Amino acid sequence: MLWRCCSLSHRIFDRFCVAELKSLQTSGRLTDFACNINAMLLLRRCSGLTSFGPLVPLRPRASVAAGWCAVRLLGGNSKDQRWENAGHGLSWRRALAGLLAGTGAVLAYGLNHHKAERADAVSIPVTAQNSQFPVFSQEEVTKHRTLQDGIWVTFNGGVYDITEFVAMHPGGDKILLAAGGALEPFWALYAVHNQEHVLEILSEYKVGELRAEDQKKQQSATSSDPYSSDPVRHPALRVNSLKPFNAEPPPEILSDSYVTPSAIFFKRNHLPVPQVDPASYELQVDGLPGGGLKLSLEDLKSRFPKHTVTATLQCAGNRRSEMNTVKQVKGLNWGISAISNGVWAGARLRDVLLAAGYGPDAARWARHVQFEGLDKDVTGTTYGASIPIHKAVSEEGDVLLAYEMNGEPLPADHGFPVRVVVPGTVGARNVKWLSKITVSAEESGSHWQQNDYKGFSPTTDWDTVDFKSAPAIQELPVQSAITVPAQGASVPRADEEVTVKGYAWSGGGREVVRVDVSLDGGKTWQVARLRSGDSGETLEPPPPPGRAWAWKLWELTAPLPPDARQLEIVCKAVDNSYNMQPDTVAPIWNLRGVLSNAWHRVKVTISDDEQ
Ligand code: MTE
Repeated sequence: MLWRCCSLSHRIFDRFCVAELKSLQTSGRLTDFACNINAMLLLRRCSGLTSFGPLVPLRPRASVAAGWCAVRLLGGNSKDQRWENAGHGLSWRRALAGLLAGTGAVLAYGLNHHKAERADAVSIPVTAQNSQFPVFSQEEVTKHRTLQDGIWVTFNGGVYDITEFVAMHPGGDKILLAAGGALEPFWALYAVHNQEHVLEILSEYKVGELRAEDQKKQQSATSSDPYSSDPVRHPALRVNSLKPFNAEPPPEILSDSYVTPSAIFFKRNHLPVPQVDPASYELQVDGLPGGGLKLSLEDLKSRFPKHTVTATLQCAGNRRSEMNTVKQVKGLNWGISAISNGVWAGARLRDVLLAAGYGPDAARWARHVQFEGLDKDVTGTTYGASIPIHKAVSEEGDVLLAYEMNGEPLPADHGFPVRVVVPGTVGARNVKWLSKITVSAEESGSHWQQNDYKGFSPTTDWDTVDFKSAPAIQELPVQSAITVPAQGASVPRADEEVTVKGYAWSGGGREVVRVDVSLDGGKTWQVARLRSGDSGETLEPPPPPGRAWAWKLWELTAPLPPDARQLEIVCKAVDNSYNMQPDTVAPIWNLRGVLSNAWHRVKVTISDDEQ
């Protein structure tokens, strides 16, 4: 509403910014959090310029309004904004065409000018002596903790009045947790803030310096990096994000072993890895009549039979990078290796639920089993997810409370000491560092169950998305990808043949029964050889129907087509329900980049040189 109060010139400039933002967003140059931050920055700059005043400090209502505008456009669901787009789209474009020529120079000047001021504001070490800002004590800063009194924070010795920014913060009102205190401990947890343009925004809100003695106190009290106790990881992993740690193995080593070694198994963490003492670890089982059950690690091992299941885990975002080539999506840019195969051992969830009192009475009302992890964000919110009750209690569901992976205690990254393994189900429901199980009539209320890991139509965008309208992803669709050769590899013509390798898997226990491989972009196909063990080993016995939890590795060696200079190698898998992969990405594109399972394509050249 605020932004309607702005003058016409502000509105025209704001719309110019919005248009530029949209183009940055669709061209893939803005992502996730950075996208929103850049959006606000751009809008602030432009609104500042329209008032022809200095950018630092900048306090026009229009800048707040412009920020709102960006937040709504990029992440919100504003009817007002859509109305504006529809009603004034043409007129502002005409106005913009006339204005652009004249404003280019002003804009360029403003951005450079702004850069120079920013350098002053953030990069010179601040001392009370060399600063023109007033000096505040920590006590004075602490008084500003509400919107009425103003929201002040400190960072690197500076004092910032961020009251106007609160409504624009991409992370919502979590920013208020830092009110009256230091930003450093929060930015340490959400490392996405450690970017130049975030400092740039902050610099615009500077109002003073923190008294030197309070700075010293703060430095000694500043909490350590919450990720400092994360485990050491294998150097071969391709890291998508360091804090929290998210990484996948290089494709060519992924298909080297049927069971993925734990060290290179893909790792998907939303938060720091919690430190858990196995001796005091306790698992709570709630929601059933009889007051619940508390189990130590020892109880879990000694009171319930140990079951072993070979199961593939796949992240919903596996192969998201291919969606990004169609149109930018929000999320980590996973390649084809956010999938791995492990041997898991532990107690069956079914056995534990029966011991906790699950029976015909509970079956009448229970619909879901919720899980909670021990990993927490700064608000104390833990990772959580749920699965349908029938999967949890069915004898054929094979859901484990696993304490072993590949014959060893679970590694820290994979959920030590206990995680849920839900075979055939998206990785997100396989909750690690498990602390609590609740049998319920409701799904987990967690962000990751309600507002993430859901699929939408290609036309759904961040203005129109309604997370309540889509079911949480559980079973995943049929999948396959080529691990060897790599995209862009060169195959010597002298070899006369090419060997293609990969993996194939389907969710819900559906067995992959065939993989087709094409060397000519999908015109002709050959059937690959499937295996359920390492090369040279006898195949594992076929899984019971509906319980094919593990992937198949596949291989095809074929003669090189005599005249070809380039090959477009393609693979597609078929499961035992005759589900097949879609041929292209565009029709399955979705704004979160999940469920990416189109035919996988790799282009290689045929080289005439002897190698
Ligand atoms: N459990 C907890 N407690 N915290 C997490 O961040 N990530 C989930 C799931 N379980 C997660 C979790 C997601 S999205 C995936 S894909 C799998 O763990 C990844 O498991 P892995 O790291 O063992 O491969």
